[in-house]
Amino acid sequence: MKRAIGVIDSGVGGLTVAYELMRQLPKEEIIYLGDTLRCPYGSRPEHEVKQFTKEMIQFLMEKNIKMIVIACNTATAFTLEELRQTLPIPIIGVIQPGSRAAINATKNEQIGIIGTEGTVRSNAYTDALKQINANLHVTAMACPLLVPMVEKGIVSGDRAKKVVEETLRPLKATQNIDTLVLGCTHYPLLEQTIQEVMGEAVNIISSSEETARETSTILEMHELLYQGEREPRHRFYATGDLELFKTIADGIFLERMPHVNQAHFEKITL
Ligand code: DGL
Repeated sequence: MKRAIGVIDSGVGGLTVAYELMRQLPKEEIIYLGDTLRCPYGSRPEHEVKQFTKEMIQFLMEKNIKMIVIACNTATAFTLEELRQTLPIPIIGVIQPGSRAAINATKNEQIGIIGTEGTVRSNAYTDALKQINANLHVTAMACPLLVPMVEKGIVSGDRAKKVVEETLRPLKATQNIDTLVLGCTHYPLLEQTIQEVMGEAVNIISSSEETARETSTILEMHELLYQGEREPRHRFYATGDLELFKTIADGIFLERMPHVNQAHFEKITL
């Protein structure tokens, strides 16, 4: 099936999921939309996140996509169940895959979640984790400073380290977690810094690998996988500053996936 996979996020965070989709499904074409103009979603009320997510999906549906990946935890928490009931194509989020990966990694059953205010408030991770294993001890913490920093392209160096250190201090000081879920798709861009701050003994989990695996399984189940040979031409759309978006995308893809260089980038209005 030639049609593309649609991927949405409030900004650049979902690119970490798009990267993993391209790595695991190299023949599939991705159409990515980041609502960078209205990012962050994490501090917005539920009705706004729902409305903005619907607008992004509408845009992608007009591009005739075959499946949607909500590469945003906040939007997953607030919209996935409803969208699953109403959309004519398969749709998945990042919270179930992230939860499964955390459960596979933990040894002491003490799991930390960091995410946006919206994701933490929704309890979506705690519910998903406890549904699989009710004995888990889950501590969730909102980190509202991290997304705006990543959207500015600050993902390493002293400034990033200082903000991450201060943000994670309470979690580090009071909890005995052995596994920390990056419950926001922006955070994998800070993964190295987060690992340094938390220490080598803590497993850092990002949901992208597991999400890409689930995408592949669903496409196969619905007989939607692309079977031919091709070098896909991915398309990236953003609602805000395109140059900054491109710079961050280059940082993620260029070294490892030079063909993304040929991708189409465009600024749009929703
Ligand atoms: N990357 C998104 C997430 O996974 C949202 C960040 C935001 O817009 O606040 O939650």
